[in-house]
Amino acid sequence: MFSLLPWRKRYGYQPGFEDFLFETFHGLDLESIVPREDLGVERQRSAANATYYQPISCRNMRFVLREAGKLGSHFQHFVDIGSGKGKACIFAARSGMFAAVTGVDFSAPLTAIALKNARHLGLKNINFDCRDAADYLLPPGKCLVFLYNPFDEIILDAFLRRNRQHFLIHSSIIAYAHDGHRGVLQNNGFELISRFEARKVSFHRMRPIS
Ligand SMILES: C[S@@+](CC[C@H](N)C(=O)[O-])C[C@H]1O[C@@H](n2cnc3c(N)ncnc32)[C@H](O)[C@@H]1O
Repeated sequence: MFSLLPWRKRYGYQPGFEDFLFETFHGLDLESIVPREDLGVERQRSAANATYYQPISCRNMRFVLREAGKLGSHFQHFVDIGSGKGKACIFAARSGMFAAVTGVDFSAPLTAIALKNARHLGLKNINFDCRDAADYLLPPGKCLVFLYNPFDEIILDAFLRRNRQHFLIHSSIIAYAHDGHRGVLQNNGFELISRFEARKVSFHRMRPIS
């Protein structure tokens, strides 16, 4: 816990007691900052547009899943774009709300840690794909697509354009945490379902073609 203090100063990163307990009690590797230059990514363009690794808090992840559950539709798949060490995916897999859970991250070292964490917990319905979000195609079926501030508007735009057909066909919903680039969703034909200013979390779906 004390080794996290330098990150608090630089990144404002302050995991709560619950985060500390969750990691320690389950014997996982989740809580840290991994700066962009340490993500181990060679593709220059995407690396330059990435943020850095920071795990979602237990509190906010529970909130996201609770609010998603209120949207009144059944999701087949949870997909975390920029899954890091897998914390959001672990919560989704343990929630029982999804038949399958996928984490996508372009950092090979973080993906290896996410896999190790999931195996350690014995989770079965979860997998991690080491891939650039700009190249990733969402699986068929209704997805809850989770984004926790993984990258800037350029990669977000590339991801949305690449998956436009998916969103039109499958009515998937985006849950965007720390949603600074939500204007990009609007520009790509998404409508805001709900937004929670205090947590900077918003839910979006593609506007149907009229
Ligand atoms: C803020 S962390 C979020 C971690 C995780 N979603 C969670 O909630 O615990 C952002 C993650 O996005 C990943 N990322 C950034 N740019 C990416 C890209 N172009 N493709 C795939 N992953 C990316 C980073 O490696 C980092 O792990």
